[in-house]
Amino acid sequence: MTEQNLAIVVLAAGRGTRMKSATPKVLHRIGGRTLLGHVLRSAESLGAELVRVVVRHERDLIVESLADHPGVVAVDQDEVPGTGRAAQVGVEALPADFAGDVLVLSGDVPLIEVSTFQSMLDEHRRRGADATLLGAELADPDGYGRIIRGADGMVERIVEQRDATASELAVSEINPGVYVFRAPALRDALSRVGTDNAQGEMYLTDVIGLLRAAGGGIAGVTAPDAAAALGVNDRVQLGEAARILNQRVIRRWQVDGVTIQDPQTTWIDDTATLARDVTVLPNTHILGATAIGEGATIGPDTSLVDSEVGEGASVRRSDVTLAVIGAGATIGPWAYLRAGAELADGAKAGTFVEIKNSTIGAGSKVPHLSYVGDSDVGEGVNLGAGAITANYDDVHKHRTHIGDHVHTGSHTVMIAPVRLGDGAKTGAGAVIRKDVPAGALAMSVAPQRNLDGWVENNRAGTPAADAVARARRAEKQADGE
Ligand code: UD1
Ligand code: CA
Repeated sequence: MTEQNLAIVVLAAGRGTRMKSATPKVLHRIGGRTLLGHVLRSAESLGAELVRVVVRHERDLIVESLADHPGVVAVDQDEVPGTGRAAQVGVEALPADFAGDVLVLSGDVPLIEVSTFQSMLDEHRRRGADATLLGAELADPDGYGRIIRGADGMVERIVEQRDATASELAVSEINPGVYVFRAPALRDALSRVGTDNAQGEMYLTDVIGLLRAAGGGIAGVTAPDAAAALGVNDRVQLGEAARILNQRVIRRWQVDGVTIQDPQTTWIDDTATLARDVTVLPNTHILGATAIGEGATIGPDTSLVDSEVGEGASVRRSDVTLAVIGAGATIGPWAYLRAGAELADGAKAGTFVEIKNSTIGAGSKVPHLSYVGDSDVGEGVNLGAGAITANYDDVHKHRTHIGDHVHTGSHTVMIAPVRLGDGAKTGAGAVIRKDVPAGALAMSVAPQRNLDGWVENNRAGTPAADAVARARRAEKQADGE
């Protein structure tokens, strides 16, 4: 859907001083997206054709982040400070004859849902208002601008915390910083905003009082969920916003048929997807573009980043990044799957197993204490405990090819580049430096020699020698009986 009568201006030029960060405030992340990314995502789902993001502080980094949002245009704020000036340069960057509605959003208010914007627009248009405000009732309104209403209950103006009187500070209805304006009314009021306030800035909030004084209609919509009004100005609020978003995401998946055993210790990014009947056990992080198939069990103590998990798979106490796990595969406990690990259906990566940049065929197992890197492993393979693909010769990485139904003995080291043909086997402790033909058994360990009596001859008087002596007596006694 496209809305030709709607423009969106997102304010993102501020310093974000209270974050105490090298990263611009609106590029801090919660739930898998930047704060600005959340705002733009909601803006985009409204279908506005004209979206402007006002930038100044760390503008290059912010402009770079807009690459993910085609059609969104950055506009530079000049040295005049304040949200009013930011809105003004945003509006000036719209076509001069644009006379529709302007939704002004703050890049640091990430949790407001698109349905709230939509009800603001509906109310604005129904009432033919010059401006429509969002209001939120907060138990602790500290730090926010307060919405001041007249005796008739109508909105009169907004006062900033720093400019407020004691009785104004007692008002609990706050301004979340989201507004709809009729474009001509906004242009006109902004041209009359001054800087006579505690911060010496052009306040966008002054527009409300100016419009009201000029007889304009101001409509109001109350935020359905006051927590969504949270503005992120410091790391405490960043943590709080992350928590609120996480709760919302978890609830959404629960409603969609996902069991989440312990929502308190589960973190799911807004960008991940989970199918029905997935079970998520405690202390689990499902991050980035991760997608989990129906009936899979994830956790406890598991982290999945940008990975795919097939139907019915199980991932326990493991760390998985940029990996693909097939249907019915079992991972962990304590597996580490890194970029490019691709396990086919029914495969297994067990305990203390690390796999990167490798394909593991259907039903193949890497059950214990192994490193598989830069390898292609066929189907029905069993790599015995302690299998190592030595893929790095200090200069280059090389591949290991392991055919179908290969079984390696415990502690086999495969020195890449090397191939093990279909059905091949290796003896325990084998060091495979040469290709193994299909069907061959490869052994590289020298035959065992036992030097009888070595301990008595060379380690007399040690506990080991005493133990040998006891063993000899026991043997004699057994012989005597
Ligand atoms: C603003 C509101 C306040 C409201 C609060 C809600 C004003 C004057 N105050 O206060 O009423 O309760 O948001 O969260 O508007 N920005 C620019 N250019 C600037 C200054 C700021 O683009 O020159 C951007 C910031 O990047 C930010 C947004 O505007 O995304 C809000 O700025 P901020 O300084 O955080 O305003 P608050 O003090 O939170
Ligand atoms: Ca703010």
